[in-house]
Amino acid sequence: MSAFSGQLVLGIDTSCDDTGVGLVELAADGSVSVRANRVWSQTVHANYGGVMPELASREHVERIDAVMDDALKEAGVRVSDISAVAATSGPGLVGALLVGLMYGKGLAQGLGIPFYATHHLEGHIYAAASESSLQPPYLALVVSGGHTHLFDVPQTGEYVLVGATRDDAAGEAFDKVARLAGLGYPGGPAVSEAAKRGDPKAVPFKVPLAGQKGYEFSFSGLKTAALLAHRAGAKPEDLAASFQAVAVKSLVQTSVRAARDLGRRTLVVSGGVAANTALRESFAATELNVIFPGKGLNTDNGAMIALAGAAAIRAGRAAHGLEDGATAYAPLANSAG
Ligand code: KG4
Ligand code: ZN
Repeated sequence: MSAFSGQLVLGIDTSCDDTGVGLVELAADGSVSVRANRVWSQTVHANYGGVMPELASREHVERIDAVMDDALKEAGVRVSDISAVAATSGPGLVGALLVGLMYGKGLAQGLGIPFYATHHLEGHIYAAASESSLQPPYLALVVSGGHTHLFDVPQTGEYVLVGATRDDAAGEAFDKVARLAGLGYPGGPAVSEAAKRGDPKAVPFKVPLAGQKGYEFSFSGLKTAALLAHRAGAKPEDLAASFQAVAVKSLVQTSVRAARDLGRRTLVVSGGVAANTALRESFAATELNVIFPGKGLNTDNGAMIALAGAAAIRAGRAAHGLEDGATAYAPLANSAG
């Protein structure tokens, strides 16, 4: 007898330096629940100051079987219980993407079940479906190490890019500020931790693009300002607190203004930076209904891809063929970006 009553969707993400495998149960009433979420975060890149694409691909190959086994164990199911497979096809590092994509396609073909090639950012957005049924219309802010994108989602599967960063992604800025202040890696959690002991008013950063009519973001100027403050002797804790305060302010103010202008009441905030406590508190204090992914679903993982796959199944979207490859650059919005 099967250990569950609905459909079991497998999700795989190997877009960058995390090998993620997740299992999500899609119940007959359309509700979803995360049954497993296992991530192997690669450490081989630590000495290089950035992700080495070829090392990432190799490590995914070496780890994916074990991560898959762990996920099946966590959910208490067998491979034959899986009813559909979703895997990230882009954007990301092509060699890395190919590992999870081919693994997923192979499984789907072997089991004779549907396969869904999934967009990484759609995965980040659907990570929030662990907390809510996620009914459009809503705005979605994806803030990670590679993206700072604000989408309007007027209906399921339709994404309109409202604004994005002109330069660095928010997470990238957290990582760079952490490095220059000697706070360690990964930068986001390190800055957040140090900020607890610092004064957010110590370094007078200006909110980037203040007064703009649009909804763009910019973080490279802040990074330079942080470097200058560091050279002028700012304490690492004060630098962390002040940088975090202004980065959060910029993300919150711009998103809230966009929501007001577009008449949206619900905002999804997802991606690695959405794990930031100060950001969560600041968004929670706005007039919007803000939905964050649950624990372990903010940074890259497989369960978010399974959640996006479950949403595609629920919406009656056709499964994908097995011929399409991985794409390094793949805009989510039909209009721009
Ligand atoms: O979504 P993610 O795992 O990978 C990408 O697709 O980029 O995001 C990783 C990013 C890193 O830049 C990391 O520093 C940032 O998310 N991050 C945080 C926090 N946790 C992770 N930034 C701020 N505060 C955090 N608590
Ligand atoms: Zn990501």
